Amino acid sequence: MSLSACESPLHFVPASAPDASMLTHCADHRFRVHTRAYTDPGVFADEMKKVFGRTWIYVGHDSEVPAVGDFKTSHVGMQPVVITRGADDAINVFVNRCVHRGAVVCREARGNAQEFACPYHGWIYGTDGKLIAVSERREPGGYSPDFDAPEGLFRLPRVETYRGFIFASFNPDVPALTDFLGHAKTVIDRKLNLSPTGRIVLRSRPFVVRYQGNWKFQAENIVDAYHFLHTHKGFVQLQAKFGDSTGDFGVHKGGSIKAMRKLRFAGSTWNCQYGHGILENPAGDMDGYLNGEFGDFYQSLQAQHGADELAWIAGKGAASIFPNLGLIHQQIRTWRPIAPDMTEVAIYPYELEGAPAAFNEGMLRSQERFYGPAGHGAADDVDIFARNQQGLAGDAVEWLILERGLDTDVAEGQDFRGLPASEAPQRALWREWNRLMSV
Ligand code: FES
Ligand SMILES: [Fe+2]
Repeated sequence: MSLSACESPLHFVPASAPDASMLTHCADHRFRVHTRAYTDPGVFADEMKKVFGRTWIYVGHDSEVPAVGDFKTSHVGMQPVVITRGADDAINVFVNRCVHRGAVVCREARGNAQEFACPYHGWIYGTDGKLIAVSERREPGGYSPDFDAPEGLFRLPRVETYRGFIFASFNPDVPALTDFLGHAKTVIDRKLNLSPTGRIVLRSRPFVVRYQGNWKFQAENIVDAYHFLHTHKGFVQLQAKFGDSTGDFGVHKGGSIKAMRKLRFAGSTWNCQYGHGILENPAGDMDGYLNGEFGDFYQSLQAQHGADELAWIAGKGAASIFPNLGLIHQQIRTWRPIAPDMTEVAIYPYELEGAPAAFNEGMLRSQERFYGPAGHGAADDVDIFARNQQGLAGDAVEWLILERGLDTDVAEGQDFRGLPASEAPQRALWREWNRLMSV
């Protein structure tokens, strides 16, 4: 049984050969996912190998390791990794596991080092991963002169960056990163082009939270325009009452509930090849931007990119980049699976290099208000993820329904464009998940 498929595999178009006619061929217009895809420990173990072991995984941003010797620890699926900026200025990603008896070598989140000493028995590695020294090698009871010492930390065979976003893969044959990102590149481009230099800096510490639910809930939710008015009802009512006086700074526009509803049902959704789901909606009233508090800033961006593109840059864009990276507002979000029903999410607000300090400050404060530890929004979401997992605990009902907007998705090359609150972005995840899990 294919756990993601409904009764007919035609609901899942392989990414290598997407064909809209196969979707429309579904006589019953169904797109359903089996409960066990979120709950089964066997499926979870398979995902670690077939999804997290095979595709590109976001591990960090190059502004976190700007100088030679800088490092950052991260994960690829369950596997701890360490990213280093080597003496040759290249970015390396290693499995953060001592070749001796397996202890995590680097325990800090971020820092600068000339070498790494394993805390267990003191074996030493360079920032290029090479094993430099075996402690007490020749002491009594030590290693023979013929001891065949490993070369060093396990190096992930593929590491590529796109505009500072560092991705790594255990799969030497994974497609080129730019091909993999596809249409998701436009979301990254537009978010970064809000910076006059085209660069962002991750300066703030991330807000990290764990929830009792499957990792795919977060991947689906960050591009789920449908849930906002319901899951975040309390926030919506607050915004309706106080508008931007809540310090929203345009992250979530205030106004009447009717106006907020209109905003949610505007723009496009995308189901993209390789599993990326996208929401995009260009800004409407550009005069407000060009003549507002940050008018000079927007005018110089207009001179740089043109009026049409500025509307996209200033507009709303969000992406769930399969399987573990989210972009929304002015933040990078990443999540890592811990168990079928346990996930850790890290939210990194970023600064736009070269933007007015007040703009970055305002954005950071508004991120905190919705996504921070005491924010209105993040708590709603993780609560709903846990409820979602609870709801899937029984097996009386087997299938989940992801058919919203299915009949109105339109194929564009390898992707499908959907109407504003379609579940096209969620179907993107399952299309790629099904492809990887079926091989
Ligand atoms: S486990 Fe690292 S030195 Fe022993
Ligand atoms: Fe939400």
